[in-house]
Amino acid sequence: MARHLITSAIPYINGIKHLGNLVGSQLPADLYARYLRQRGHEVLFLCATDEHGTPAELAAAKAGKPVADYCAEMHQVQSDIADGFRLSFDHFGRSSSPQNHKLTQAFAGRLAEMRLIREVTEEQVYSKADGRFLPDRYIEGTCPNCGFESARGDQCDNCTKQLDPTDLINPHSTISGSTELEVRETKHLYLRQSELKGDLAEWIDSKKDWPILTTSIAKKWLNDGDGLQDRGITRDLDWGIPVKQGDQTWPGMEGKVFYVWFDAPIEYIACAQEWEDAGKGTDWERWWRTDKGADDVIYTQFMGKDNVPFHTLSFPATIMGTQEPWKLVDYIKSFNYLNYDGGQFSTSRGRGVFMDQALEILPADYWRWWLLSHAPESSDAEFTWETFQTDVNKDLADVLGNFVSRITKFCRSKFSEAIPEGGSYSAAEEQLVADLTTRIRAYEKHMDAIEVRKAATELRAIWVLGNEYLQANAPWTTFKTDPETAAMQVRLALNLIRIYAVLSAPFIPDASATLLAAMQTDDDNWPQDVGSALTALPAGHAFTVPDNLFRKLTDEEREGWAERFAGTRD
Ligand code: 2FM
Ligand code: ZN
Repeated sequence: MARHLITSAIPYINGIKHLGNLVGSQLPADLYARYLRQRGHEVLFLCATDEHGTPAELAAAKAGKPVADYCAEMHQVQSDIADGFRLSFDHFGRSSSPQNHKLTQAFAGRLAEMRLIREVTEEQVYSKADGRFLPDRYIEGTCPNCGFESARGDQCDNCTKQLDPTDLINPHSTISGSTELEVRETKHLYLRQSELKGDLAEWIDSKKDWPILTTSIAKKWLNDGDGLQDRGITRDLDWGIPVKQGDQTWPGMEGKVFYVWFDAPIEYIACAQEWEDAGKGTDWERWWRTDKGADDVIYTQFMGKDNVPFHTLSFPATIMGTQEPWKLVDYIKSFNYLNYDGGQFSTSRGRGVFMDQALEILPADYWRWWLLSHAPESSDAEFTWETFQTDVNKDLADVLGNFVSRITKFCRSKFSEAIPEGGSYSAAEEQLVADLTTRIRAYEKHMDAIEVRKAATELRAIWVLGNEYLQANAPWTTFKTDPETAAMQVRLALNLIRIYAVLSAPFIPDASATLLAAMQTDDDNWPQDVGSALTALPAGHAFTVPDNLFRKLTDEEREGWAERFAGTRD
């Protein structure tokens, strides 16, 4: 048994995430965490909200709330939605926590001690009316390229040209509207990550088993030059972690905060402290410090491809640069994008299904199954309402649901609501045990390798085996001439329900719990030996017929949803 630390990329605090975000990090991380726990490993699964940076400030301003209040509220909203999707975090933390403040400041201090921080003087736009420097998104003006009047300081949303705030015509502050802007000098801290290029290259080269998506992005950034330039890790903002060392000020850094991408990954560590401080566990350093026992921890991160450069280069540079015994990630599972119905999910245009809306229309298991079985691993994937309807109806209702309902109802009508006695295996059952064994071993292999789609395909095939067995051996026919043999067939199939509940739990935890409850057992042991797992529920063991596990989605529903989620979120 091993110890597994698992983190999912921490979602930005502003707004509710869409299903594309969910399937790109939190959901597959949950699948893996649940699976490893079931297999008896010790797991610490962490996630948090990413609360700093201009998007949080702007969203709070739009909501008319102080940013700290806004973040506290949105953290609760995101936490509730995570519960709704049954994301089994051991702790859902906050990057604005006191623990992260302290740790981020300590990291910066240590990096300075290691001479990996330098001060750079830059020119930035200052607003006299607002009494502050204006980061990119706080300045708007007319695009010099296309004439669009609301181009932002960093980019024109109309023609996509990358801009500098000083390029804008008639620039104004988006806070006060003031045009009294001037360019002033300001000092920032830079992380000298270019110094660590050799160490990073060697480390990434040693990761032969990482997904190609992860290493190809890492190597591109490492070798194309841009990725490893020294990076500004401070900003002129109010909201964030103050640039200090403990109670000491950092000369010249008064009123500045750390850049959100500096403190966000450090929250992975701080989150373990939060977990301990919340009384959910002990000895957080055992997970994060190799001098305190973390050398035998296997650390896996989950994220969308846009997050890969920060996790393969910047954060490891932060960790390596300290030369302190922090745990480095062992495996990075990254994902491509999930598109929505012929285009992209769009948070700003409200296009696609958002996590709260998804749960309003269907329970979590429907989404979990579809999203995971279509996880964008080797390429981008696409959500369409047609495939969603077809796959859910086929896999969940026709294959799994139907198997359960057919056999439990048949047993109730011909025997009783208890596992029937009598009969013995023939060649068909021996064959089924052999086939199940092969497929379950393959399922484990894919789950161990976090090959999400392949695992889903295998699980579906395991469900199909049960249906095919019933189809071929038809206990309802056998019963007429040979009730003993029919009893054996039914006993086997009812035991298969328990096995399905156990195997399916990482994908569809609620259905799994319903099945175990219906079978009136809390034996959730993994089917190590399929033959004996098929006798776990002995003759005479009582069960109940569960309610319909999964309902079928109708054409009218599909059409209504397609229309409702086509644009602008209400
Ligand atoms: O892309 C995002 O949603 C970021 N908030 C992810 C941060 S992951 C980590 F570094 F903390
Ligand atoms: Zn433009």
